[in-house]
Amino acid sequence: MAIYFEKETKTFFLEGKNISYIFGINFTGFPEHYYFGERIGRDELSYTYEANIGDSGEAAIPGEIHAGGKSYNVYRSEFSFYGNGEFRECSFQMMFKNGSRLNDFRYETHEILAEKPALAGLPSMRGGETLKLTLKDMNSEMRVHLFYTVYDDAAVVARHMEVENRTGEPVKILRAYSFALDVYGNNHDLLTIENAWAREGKPERTPIPHGFICVDEKSASSTRRHSPAFALLNKDTTEEHGAALGVNLIYSASFTLKAEVSSKGYTRLTGGINDFDFTWELPAGETFTTPEAVLAYSGEGVGGMSREYHDAYRAHLINPRFVKAHRPVVINSWEAVYFGCTPDRLLPIIDAVSGTGIDTFVLDDGWFGARRNDRAGLGDWVVSPEVFPEGLAPVIDYVHGAGMKFGIWFEPEMVNPDSDLFRAHPDWAISVPGTEPCVSRRQLVLDITRTDVRDYVVEAVSKILRENKIDYVKWDFNRALTENFSRALPAENQQEMHHRYALGLYDICQRLVGGFPNIFFEGCAGGGGRFDPAILYYFPQIWASDDTDAYMRTQIQYGTSLFYPLSAISCHTSICPNHQTSRTVPFKTRADIAHLGATGYELDTTKITPEELEEVKVQVAEYKEMEDLVLNGDLYRLENTFDSNYFAMQIVSKDKAKAHITAMRALCRPNDEHKRIFPRGLDKKAVYEVVNNEYDLCLRLSGAAIMNVGLVLPLKTADGKMPGDFRTFTFRITKVE
Ligand code: GLA
Repeated sequence: MAIYFEKETKTFFLEGKNISYIFGINFTGFPEHYYFGERIGRDELSYTYEANIGDSGEAAIPGEIHAGGKSYNVYRSEFSFYGNGEFRECSFQMMFKNGSRLNDFRYETHEILAEKPALAGLPSMRGGETLKLTLKDMNSEMRVHLFYTVYDDAAVVARHMEVENRTGEPVKILRAYSFALDVYGNNHDLLTIENAWAREGKPERTPIPHGFICVDEKSASSTRRHSPAFALLNKDTTEEHGAALGVNLIYSASFTLKAEVSSKGYTRLTGGINDFDFTWELPAGETFTTPEAVLAYSGEGVGGMSREYHDAYRAHLINPRFVKAHRPVVINSWEAVYFGCTPDRLLPIIDAVSGTGIDTFVLDDGWFGARRNDRAGLGDWVVSPEVFPEGLAPVIDYVHGAGMKFGIWFEPEMVNPDSDLFRAHPDWAISVPGTEPCVSRRQLVLDITRTDVRDYVVEAVSKILRENKIDYVKWDFNRALTENFSRALPAENQQEMHHRYALGLYDICQRLVGGFPNIFFEGCAGGGGRFDPAILYYFPQIWASDDTDAYMRTQIQYGTSLFYPLSAISCHTSICPNHQTSRTVPFKTRADIAHLGATGYELDTTKITPEELEEVKVQVAEYKEMEDLVLNGDLYRLENTFDSNYFAMQIVSKDKAKAHITAMRALCRPNDEHKRIFPRGLDKKAVYEVVNNEYDLCLRLSGAAIMNVGLVLPLKTADGKMPGDFRTFTFRITKVE
């Protein structure tokens, strides 16, 4: 049994793969967090609370004044609300009709459900035994339901909350986070992720002071500045060792995540929908559902935590139809021709890759309406007769005739002011009447909180998908939301707009992905501006960054892999000098780094040499050999270019029979140090063959030797030359005994 309730002590034991999550209902009737970590037995843990009561000088909980003057400020909360002495960051706040914001929620009942009910309108983890814990407000008929789901095959706990208004009157929600827990200890570090366009995925590790650290988005675009993810680490936690407690929100709009250290020696983690500029009118009889948060624990460091997320998302989040299927190896038109995607430029690019193993052509921006540059046409999802006088069919047939699949780019949520759509429906773009809307990349955002706008978007995209033989869709989202306002909402509901935008997006995604189940969808947002688990629920992979420079990619992909499996990260080999950095790195390096994800190409293949095209053939063959590892393997991050001159990632099959390592020395220095990397995750006792064809390397070593003695990065090329900057070294490791 995964969830167990011990009646006598009123303790809930939630048991997932290798983990225990334990909390109890204390004598106030309040759910108190006891423990989240490595699996332990069903011990009685209320002693950790009893020893700590008798706090003085704090406000007392009503009715408990004689029981030691306790206040909510000393409880280790599973759910916290403002009032009655709770002065830390609470996870819930509401306002009654009379203006009061005072709650006093206590345990009412609970249910253990064999299968998690779906979250209304929101993507979430699939399956799993679920605890539904109901708390009742002592001051009113408000209820909150806390949901906890655990999985046999994943070391995660999925949590969300539902707020039910049984008061008979409308109330206003001011804050409704997805989860809260108070972890023992006041000396942790917090690992967060900083994002910027073309520089996504930078990990940052910071001590948490008394007070709190918050990462958030206010742009309704989940990863423009920060990621909806962080990890609580012990001081001695490293990539390989020590406790790491991760939090990741399945949400794409404005979020907040907070870690607060209290004077009582605990660290509170909480967060969910950003309550900055947010309120929600909850009519009598209705329920509000928060997004789901996925909490993971590993005792094997940050790397262990990542592997838990990867397994959990592959098993329970990403579309099961595609998650383990061969990923399209694309040639994308964007960096090849940008907006100049005419058939006479595209067909030779397609011809050039014929026979290389590249199996999908993706027609990026520029094929529709008046979209000859970024100034016009967004929103007009009709094939441009100027660019494709005979429609898309001849190009699609050409691609299919070459044995490849055909993909196409959309940016369904956007509109250029210079478009037929905007001229017909100026009020469909988000803007506040009487003010000049904020334009970004010369475009406005469609108000998809409205059903008429959503219906247009779904039909416009569906029409193209119905009328053409399309196998793949790249779904872009190139700007943040600025005005948190909908013309369709009454004044009192305006601060609901960002969350309603997320719900509108999920409705569109559901209808299109559900309506075209054979089409493979890829997410994108001006690079990695909306790389989150909610998007991954609909689209099995996401373009991680507009930066295709291989050196930058070692960092971007490293940071993105903290929470997301490699198969979720779209990576392309592009031309050099690189269009974002002007850096030149070897062609092989570009492909080797792109192969550490859902690989592809994005360059004008008519402009590379015949030798390079031959190389593409070899590269794609190499990728196909390692693809099962990219899709299913365990990731070990061995080195990173944030900290050193080296990068190395290793992927190991679940049965430890096969592994692949890509390492890179960034800058070449004469007379350099002798560098070894130390693989992990192999079977110590097995014998492996370690092969690097480029360096004529073929070793037979035990797993123990490989992991303890390490593998050497050559200082010179096979013909004795200095290797130059940004040279990669790949190792294929196969169990032979
Ligand atoms: C964004 C994407 C790119 C490309 C362009 C097209 O920047 O990240 O990959 O699709 O839009 O305009």
